[in-house]
Amino acid sequence: MDTAEIRRRFVAHFERAAHTPVPSASLLLDDPNLLFVNAGMVPFKPFFLGQETPPYDRATSVQKCVRTPDIEDVGKTTRHGTFFEMCGNFSFGDYFKEGAIELAWDLVTKSVADGGFGLEEGRLWPSVLAGDEEALALWMKVTGLPADRIVQLGPKENYWSMGVPGPGGPCSEILYDRGPAYGPEADWAAMGPQMATELEDRYLEIWNLVFMQDELSAVRSKEDFDIAGSLPQKNIDTGMGLERVAYLLQGRENMYEIDVMFPVIERAMELTGKKYGADPGDDVRLRVVADHVRSSMMLIGDGVTPGNEARGYVLRRLLRRAVRSMRLLGYDDPALPELMPVSRDKMGETYTDLVSDWDRIARVAYAEEEAFRKTLQAGTTRFDLAASEVKASGGTTIPGAQAFQLHDTFGFPIDLTLEMASEAGLGVDEAGFRGLMAEQREQAKADAKAKKGQHADTSVYRGVLDEHGPTEWLAYETLETESRPLALLSGGAAVPVLGEGEVGELVLDRTPFYAESGGQVADAGQITFDGGVLEVVDVQRPVRGLVVHQVRVLEGELPADAPLLHARVDPEWRTGARQAHSGTHVVHAALREVLGPSALQSGSYNRPGYLRLDFGWTTALSPEQVHDIEQVSNEALRADLPVGWQYMTLAEAKEWGAVALFGETYDATKVRVVEIGGPWSRELCGGTHVDHASQIGTVVVTGEASVGSGNRRIEAHTGVEGFAYLARERDVVQQLTGLLKTQPGDLVGRVGDLVDRLRSAEKELERVRLQQLLAGGAELAAAATDVDGVRVVAHRVDGAGGGDVRTLALDVRGRLTGDQPAVVVVIGAADGKVSVVAALNDAAQARGLSANELVRTVGPYVGGKGGGKADVAQGGGTDTSRIDEALAAVHAAVRGA
Ligand code: ALA
Repeated sequence: MDTAEIRRRFVAHFERAAHTPVPSASLLLDDPNLLFVNAGMVPFKPFFLGQETPPYDRATSVQKCVRTPDIEDVGKTTRHGTFFEMCGNFSFGDYFKEGAIELAWDLVTKSVADGGFGLEEGRLWPSVLAGDEEALALWMKVTGLPADRIVQLGPKENYWSMGVPGPGGPCSEILYDRGPAYGPEADWAAMGPQMATELEDRYLEIWNLVFMQDELSAVRSKEDFDIAGSLPQKNIDTGMGLERVAYLLQGRENMYEIDVMFPVIERAMELTGKKYGADPGDDVRLRVVADHVRSSMMLIGDGVTPGNEARGYVLRRLLRRAVRSMRLLGYDDPALPELMPVSRDKMGETYTDLVSDWDRIARVAYAEEEAFRKTLQAGTTRFDLAASEVKASGGTTIPGAQAFQLHDTFGFPIDLTLEMASEAGLGVDEAGFRGLMAEQREQAKADAKAKKGQHADTSVYRGVLDEHGPTEWLAYETLETESRPLALLSGGAAVPVLGEGEVGELVLDRTPFYAESGGQVADAGQITFDGGVLEVVDVQRPVRGLVVHQVRVLEGELPADAPLLHARVDPEWRTGARQAHSGTHVVHAALREVLGPSALQSGSYNRPGYLRLDFGWTTALSPEQVHDIEQVSNEALRADLPVGWQYMTLAEAKEWGAVALFGETYDATKVRVVEIGGPWSRELCGGTHVDHASQIGTVVVTGEASVGSGNRRIEAHTGVEGFAYLARERDVVQQLTGLLKTQPGDLVGRVGDLVDRLRSAEKELERVRLQQLLAGGAELAAAATDVDGVRVVAHRVDGAGGGDVRTLALDVRGRLTGDQPAVVVVIGAADGKVSVVAALNDAAQARGLSANELVRTVGPYVGGKGGGKADVAQGGGTDTSRIDEALAAVHAAVRGA
């Protein structure tokens, strides 16, 4: 049964049982504890915790997941994939243990003809958390199996949590016995509450049913966690591994061999000439390739770009491991263009965005491979040097500092260094490396935090929110409110008063201030109260629903229980902010019009008068493209396109073609869509905007540059700032026309002429200088002194650098014709630097004299060194005070020879 059919049957089974099918969420959900969505339940977490009311009691999904702690295990076991799909059914306070067990058992055991998976009952082993008598009794009732066919295991297997604080509960797993070829038979009764690792391949976990009932406040390990209390209601969260069921039903050995993955292995075999199944080491590499190519494609599809931190680093590591595995298999050409399209053809049947977005995905992946190939080239030399140094000194370990340098300077990920070291028979001081990395990261974090002035710990804000409820947020409606203080904080704790000059945090019951988000900076303004004035320095939303003003007391003292305050956003500021944010949308739409829809914003920042927009693109924009983007933007302003916004569901917004940003979490039931000129620009956005495009004033694009990892940045000024920028440029033009006594239209021609003339004048000057220099050559040759039968010219030229000195020395030697030995040493001094050139003829060398040695003789006098061959040698130094002594030393050296 192919994977698509398994997926279809799963969803249909639960739809028949009144579950709402929910499409997979993006791999990137905004949960600070999670790098990627790693289970089917993640998008539903607020429903389980009772933070939000679900629009349905029952749901089913096939969720894209990425888990990366086991990257090293990929390909070595049969079960570990970094990307996988989890089929799940969910109950929010509706059915509980019995319903979940019935629904799962029915689907796995029902015959294929009846729409099930037709797994043999005799091979299935349900498990329960030891002590969960209720679950045990229900399994016996539903399946008719005796108690000894139901395995009781401890919390390591049968208590599930997200691994971080959040919902959790006891669970039941369905294990499938693959038979004696996959391991020893389990003696469940004798085994105790923990499943032995060697049984995991044989008794394959295919489905996990979580009886989600607890809220966990701390999770230290799978067995060590704190239950803070019960969830508001009893829920069900299940996860069936799509790949695992697929390899059982397809009669394959492991997940890498299923229909949607094996074609990549086949292509890799064609490219490398390796045969799958011939060599265990090669098999692991082929499986790594199949897994990593697919995972990285899915990550890029959801908007991750390769980088050195967090998500970007995981992607970079996957891509690089795939490329490197291909190299280890003997394939040195760019591999991804050969492999990734194969994966796309399979996965694109389900995830059609992969096909429509292919240009972007391919561009990001292939550019990273190119960059990595360069890295490998540069870093391998450095690595080889480090390795041979270690070996030469009799060591066996590459020091942590070297590994860190390889990482920091050459972009060598540590796993690459480890792999290459082990191929060279060496170890790596990993602890030392990690120490240095941690140091660097701490520093970066401290810098970032210091910049933001934020407390990493949000518990104090949660407390305020729990006590007073959310802030009434009126940024869209008004610029001024009468407000009451709810909390006054300083250094993360409540304070009774804030004195003049002090900075603290103020929470109001209602506020007109825009809190920084969606790229738009916080509003500026003032808050006044009876007897005082506060300046609003920053506004943030540290927890959802709560607006926190960072304020500085300009006048008076602010008591925590001040009766009434007047909050007022600076209207000038807000006008600028609206112009800049609408301008950002306009530039984004123009960008997509000029470059095509695959140019998608990956980040943005805007403040009054200025905006910048980062977007996924790997090549530099031409001046014409930049010009066109500016032109299209300003045409939108001139057409005075109307700007409007409305709320709708996420699904409606997508149908409308609204652009949602990668990695942002959106409420599925209520999102705000801002549109400019109807469908021309539709974006999910919470920012403040102008009413008509012409209010933006102007858009002046000032720059375009790379910001690394397949992203480029475009910058622009809007409104008055835009005009001011143009005025400054006009000023420069005026000064230049004044200086050159010309008209603006002729300026470029004039400057071009000037540059040309300057160049030819410089050339002429150079020619004359050389002539003069060489004219001196004849004189010098004529004035050669005889030292013990050797003609010696030891001469100093002031104002001459290395090239001239060499030309002169060779010229003089050329003039000293005949069989008599000739030695020429010229020492130049220019700009505090000394240049030495020695040139000897054959006869001088036959006498045992050497240019190389003469330069070395001179070295100590001029504070430098140098060398070369016996006929010509060159050196340099930094001490011009003893050149004459050096020349005398040359005579002495010739005499001594
Ligand atoms: N959330 C459960 C799991 O990931 C179903 O195993």
